[in-house]
Amino acid sequence: MNSLDADTRCVSGMRPTGRLHLAHLKVLKHWERLQHEYQCFYFVADWHALTTGYLDTDDLEENAIEMVTDWLAAGLSPAYCTMFIQSQVPEHAELQLLLSMITPVATLERVPTYKEQIEQLTNTEIRTHGFLGYPVLQSADILAYQAGHVPVGKDQVKHVELTRDIARRFNHLFGKDKDFDSAISRAIDKLDSRTQELVNEKRRKYVEDGDREALEVAREMIADSAQLTRMERERVHGYLEGAGRLILAEPAAIEESTLPGLDGRKMSKSYGNTIRLREDPKTIETQISRMPTDVNRVKRTDPGDPSKCPVNALQKHYLTNEQLLANEEGCRTAAIGCLECKRPLIDNIMVEQEGHRERAAPYEEDPDLVRNILTEGADRARAVASETLDDVRSAMNLAYRNL
Ligand code: TRP
Ligand code: SF4
Repeated sequence: MNSLDADTRCVSGMRPTGRLHLAHLKVLKHWERLQHEYQCFYFVADWHALTTGYLDTDDLEENAIEMVTDWLAAGLSPAYCTMFIQSQVPEHAELQLLLSMITPVATLERVPTYKEQIEQLTNTEIRTHGFLGYPVLQSADILAYQAGHVPVGKDQVKHVELTRDIARRFNHLFGKDKDFDSAISRAIDKLDSRTQELVNEKRRKYVEDGDREALEVAREMIADSAQLTRMERERVHGYLEGAGRLILAEPAAIEESTLPGLDGRKMSKSYGNTIRLREDPKTIETQISRMPTDVNRVKRTDPGDPSKCPVNALQKHYLTNEQLLANEEGCRTAAIGCLECKRPLIDNIMVEQEGHRERAAPYEEDPDLVRNILTEGADRARAVASETLDDVRSAMNLAYRNL
């Protein structure tokens, strides 16, 4: 692969969990900006949905189409980015299979989302191979595109770090050719035995545990070694990083911020505190009118504290600065009541929703428009992913010919 690709590519996925809500819209607006900065691949993570919801597949297709309708309404465009459904690009599955061979089970059992979900979801049977392997599938999603950038929520950052570890391990195990190997051992042999030992030990710490300090120490030792030529030093540097040839690029996460929900906690379907996209305007009005406020503001004449109010937290994302300041002042001095305070929030969300609903309308009327975009997206995605898979198969000596 061309290592420059990683800097220009971006990948992210979203599970088709049903109707999206305002927190998703915030993420989508970020994706929309990224599509102008990078070559972006955005996909419906339907296989990921199966890792916990394998008994509940009736609505998968409908959810996927509904979700991508919201993506398009939010401004994602096939003119700028590639949108597709994960299961329509089988390369993800092949790469997952191959990566699973080199991923220790203990590493997966330590993933925080795995530990949490195993504790929380006691009534569904999720002690499956597929669920444990979820982060490996996610790694394959990312590595198939050699993407350097991955926008994800906070809880997913660990998965991107795991992806880096897997890529590094893969490059270490399969990225060296025989000449490179012997050139390295010749160079290492020139070092005195104590240094050899230390260098090997630090390298192991870095390659296996991702210990960057160990890498730095070893680098300095090599830089100081008078026995090596400049060329040899460079080779050993490459060896230290666990790389021979770079086959899979290591990605970095771009952490998405969250949006507060109707109760002040992070907006999430599982908390039941969401405002859904394309929701009936009356429902939105009722939902916001019923939002809890500063609990100490009991009577209309009591002054309130906006910093203790869930309404204020959401307003920070939806009001202009002036609107926000006026409301906060009015709250602290009891000059306005809570219903009055909520008015601009309701209005601004309505305006945003109206635009969103209008942009979604053509796709709602003709879902085949969405299907065509996804089919074409899958073709484009497959073309890129299959290049990576060619490299991966060759590196693993699986690129048989004339059979
Ligand atoms: N696991 C992510 C989530 O639940 C979705 C996802 C799957 C993803 N594959 C990905 C995100 C690859 C970024 C990159 O939200
Ligand atoms: Fe919250 Fe506004 Fe009521 Fe103050 S006036 S408690 S900020 S809703």
